[in-house]
Amino acid sequence: MPELLALCRAGFEPECVQELEQTLAEREGSGYSRTERDSGFVRLTWQGPDSAGQLDADQLIFTRLLWPIVQEMKNLDPKDRAKPMLEWLEATGLKLGDLRVECADSQAGESLRALCRGFESAMLGLLRSRKIIDKHAKYGLIVFFVSTDHALLGFDKVDLIKNQARGGIVRLRFPSEAPSRSTLKLEEAFQVLLTEGERERWLQPGMSAVDLGACPGGWTYQFVRRSMRVVAVDNGQMAPSLMDSGLVEHIRADGFAFRPKKPADWLVCDMVEQPIRVAALVGDWLGAGLCQRSMFNLKLPMKKRYAEVQLCIETLRERAGGDLLVRAKQLYHDREEITVLATRPLRQT
Ligand SMILES: C[S@@+](CC[C@H](N)C(=O)[O-])C[C@H]1O[C@@H](n2cnc3c(N)ncnc32)[C@H](O)[C@@H]1O
Repeated sequence: MPELLALCRAGFEPECVQELEQTLAEREGSGYSRTERDSGFVRLTWQGPDSAGQLDADQLIFTRLLWPIVQEMKNLDPKDRAKPMLEWLEATGLKLGDLRVECADSQAGESLRALCRGFESAMLGLLRSRKIIDKHAKYGLIVFFVSTDHALLGFDKVDLIKNQARGGIVRLRFPSEAPSRSTLKLEEAFQVLLTEGERERWLQPGMSAVDLGACPGGWTYQFVRRSMRVVAVDNGQMAPSLMDSGLVEHIRADGFAFRPKKPADWLVCDMVEQPIRVAALVGDWLGAGLCQRSMFNLKLPMKKRYAEVQLCIETLRERAGGDLLVRAKQLYHDREEITVLATRPLRQT
């Protein structure tokens, strides 16, 4: 039976499995998963129509990247890990457009990172010298090291291998003038949950945002640096550098009670609050036309995290009413939380 490998945040393997199995079931497929807690990856064996297994990581909340596993290699010789892989590849006669060597974003994965880097350049050289690399090939090879002597080989489309961030993790540099590291969460959300065109259209100078739970201002900073106006709602202290920009109005109020005098382009919310309350609040703003779109965090400190996420998205949709486009992801900079984009569909925006 075909098998998929999915990468996720370490500790969120159960949510990753639940979402994969539910998505398969919706497509009349079924599957069972093998995973270890805190491993940062999940193996999913599945059956059903071909379309059931064509899962797209972009559509999944808890999966960062996924691809089909085609071969498992155990007991690799540390002196020559490449040999059995080359023999297997030559026996299949397959040509490859590219190579990517990956490991999990976990404690075990951390100790494999140097091995991955070294192996990738050495293996690429070997594949080239044996003419297995062919620039016209549509698929590339992914070698995933589970441990120093255990690898899973997979295939994916060359353009995905070339363009996807390693491990599905978008690396961002912390801007020194930002007042808090959580600025990276919103920056990553803009990178991952919006297309390039949406970023251009929806984040223009002169547009407006309301930031609930804004202090000290890491999220507000993302709008200010784009010359957008922000109403920052929080009883705390905003960074003086943001207030000096002349673009920020700080209102000391309860984020659940505050309503703007006129509709905003964006509502963002990073309040550490019950996720269901936040989802209902954002739904109410969208339902009342108080914002065009929203990016917000759902904190997930509870046990049944996947069920909670589903309930929150249902509540968001119910409260907002009408057509609503929802994208959600557990981002690299999200810890026990996920980030959600909710917007009216493109034709209305
Ligand atoms: C995680 S911090 C926000 C960090 C901020 N996004 C940044 O990038 O700097 C959460 C903030 O939510 C605020 N907060 C929590 N509950 C709130 C409420 N009901 N109304 C307004 N602010 C609230 C807290 O005062 C705190 O400053």
